[in-house]
Amino acid sequence: MINPFVTTGYVGPEYFCDREKETCDMVSLLTNGNNIALISSRRVGKTDLLRHCIEQPEIKDKYYTFIVDIYSTRSLSDFVNTFGKVILEELKPRGKRVWSKFVNMLSSLKTGISYDNSGTPSWMVSLGELNTPQTTLEEIFGYIQNADKRCIVIIDEFQQVLKYPENNIEAIIRTYMQYCRNANFVFSGSHRHLMGSIFTSPARPFYQSVTIMDLPLIDKQRYLDFCMSHFKNGRKALDADVVENLYDEFEGVTFYLQKVMNILYMQTKPGAKCKLRQLKPAIDYIVDFTSGTYEDLLYQLPDKQKRVLLAISKAGKAINVTSGSFAKKYGLISPSSVSSAIKGLLEKDLLTQNKGVYQVYDKFFERWLIKKF
Ligand SMILES: Nc1ncnc2c1ncn2[C@@H]1O[C@H](COP(=O)(O)OP(=O)(O)OP(=O)(O)O)[C@@H](O)[C@H]1O
Ligand SMILES: [Mg+2]
Repeated sequence: MINPFVTTGYVGPEYFCDREKETCDMVSLLTNGNNIALISSRRVGKTDLLRHCIEQPEIKDKYYTFIVDIYSTRSLSDFVNTFGKVILEELKPRGKRVWSKFVNMLSSLKTGISYDNSGTPSWMVSLGELNTPQTTLEEIFGYIQNADKRCIVIIDEFQQVLKYPENNIEAIIRTYMQYCRNANFVFSGSHRHLMGSIFTSPARPFYQSVTIMDLPLIDKQRYLDFCMSHFKNGRKALDADVVENLYDEFEGVTFYLQKVMNILYMQTKPGAKCKLRQLKPAIDYIVDFTSGTYEDLLYQLPDKQKRVLLAISKAGKAINVTSGSFAKKYGLISPSSVSSAIKGLLEKDLLTQNKGVYQVYDKFFERWLIKKF
């Protein structure tokens, strides 16, 4: 039997906690022709929710679904490349009749699709070959428009487009979205202010063109029930206060809850009971495991950034970070140097910022910093 607290992404409904309302809302909106922006802070469960939704029978059997994760893309060509690859991978298992329809649309690509001995295609497009990404994108949308089923296109980590050198990318995608009658779109992302600015400023292309869904935390009681039932299935017992304390400690952020529950489950033998005193050692166990990586991370930071990161880890939730008093309290050189260090730390995703509150993004890293310094 596998550990029921899965930490590597969606594996199926039996290991997926709650999200009943969100799943129902999302499936209804999508199957009724709406486009959605799914927004939450990091690691709350957007990607898993999307995977869960597309497994629902109303979607799975009736739509082609393409999940395009653009986290590591840097330009429009990159985007188009990732998009094309996802579509081919999704269509490939459905047989030649299906995938060839897509491949035949891609007349701007001459050599990028290669075939093995059995005639199965692979996407081997190089970025060099995508020298007219707009043309290829048009062909991709041409396919979607004419596909033999309705399509759902999910673009995960959508805020990444703001980092592309092309500055009209929102307008381009918005235009395709508007004219493509055979697909609905989900734009999922986590940097609240960035995603918010894309979808809620009147001056920008996406304004009022999608339904914005804020993904809340998993309810504490629901998560407790989920944990209890999995322990029970494994013939293990669990004190409720373990989960309650864990939930409060990590403010209900799913990723951390799952990571720690996985360890607690592993460390509790069948027939035994998991007690509150096991919680802290379990968290330390995870933090110690990653210690080497954290050392490296810190070592690679410029000194100013390192000092600001440490200050913010001490503050926990830091506000007014560019004030003289913050600099003074934590022995930092000057507010202006704090400000530039923060910019660097945000770019590296080591900090998060929400309504002027700064925190260390990785809560395990934060623990390690506090423990060590
Ligand atoms: N409903 C759930 N039940 C159980 N585990 C979940 C649930 N939702 C998310 N998880 C787990 O929590 C972790 C974070 O979820 P996920 O990656 O979906 O979050 P995210 O919001 O997409 O994060 P990011 O902002 O980093 O993209 C994953 O390990 C995932 O498997
Ligand atoms: Mg995600």
